[in-house]
Amino acid sequence: MTSILRPLSYRYAWLYDTVTAISSVPVGGPQRLRQILIEPLTLPRSAQVLDLCCGGGVTTAALCQRFDNVVGLDAAATAIARAQALTPQASYVVAQAEAMPFAANRFDLIQISVALHEMTPEQRQQILQEAWRVLKPAGTLAILDLHRPHNPLFWPAIVLFIELFETETAWQLVQSDLIAQLQAIGFGPIEEKLYSGGSLQALWARKPGDR
Ligand SMILES: C[S@@+](CC[C@H](N)C(=O)[O-])C[C@H]1O[C@@H](n2cnc3c(N)ncnc32)[C@H](O)[C@@H]1O
Repeated sequence: MTSILRPLSYRYAWLYDTVTAISSVPVGGPQRLRQILIEPLTLPRSAQVLDLCCGGGVTTAALCQRFDNVVGLDAAATAIARAQALTPQASYVVAQAEAMPFAANRFDLIQISVALHEMTPEQRQQILQEAWRVLKPAGTLAILDLHRPHNPLFWPAIVLFIELFETETAWQLVQSDLIAQLQAIGFGPIEEKLYSGGSLQALWARKPGDR
């Protein structure tokens, strides 16, 4: 069950952007939100970067400010058309994240920004396995998404957000242990930072190996 707001927020980019702007206030606004995963990275400009589930290209734009070789992938052709218009300096692919049309060991960095909560547990597992396959050894998988709040003051906000804009899969992610799932695939070490009373998690998971 989900509210009418969810399809509307996908149909109208301004509504999606407004929801993002409001929900990112606790971390300092949408610009800051888009920098959380990128800021700590020490990769060179020439790194091969994938913005997985890139949507309309806002996160892709933030990556392009820092890197010269950025690919955006999304299952929705309409999202990719918006991303191409907003951030033409990246290249794009319409594909399922569960079966990416890339060779193994292709990317130094894969970013998945606020998309895993839309996946069923089975899809999430497939996507993380695929990310492992297309990451180079010593590459980084950077994930930003919902998390179970440790501060009880943030529970009403996350409940309202999920009930209005999300589906059952968001609750499944909030109840899951993403770090344990990544470790089971082989990722490590994994760095975690929590924001907004713990309701937002940022993870940097390294694929073992040498550059
Ligand atoms: C909430 S949006 C996030 C967009 C962007 N990363 C951001 O931070 O604003 C989730 C995106 O995931 C895409 N998506 C959902 N399931 C997918 C799948 N199986 N493979 C690829 N993209 C998918 C949707 O089309 C949508 O654009």
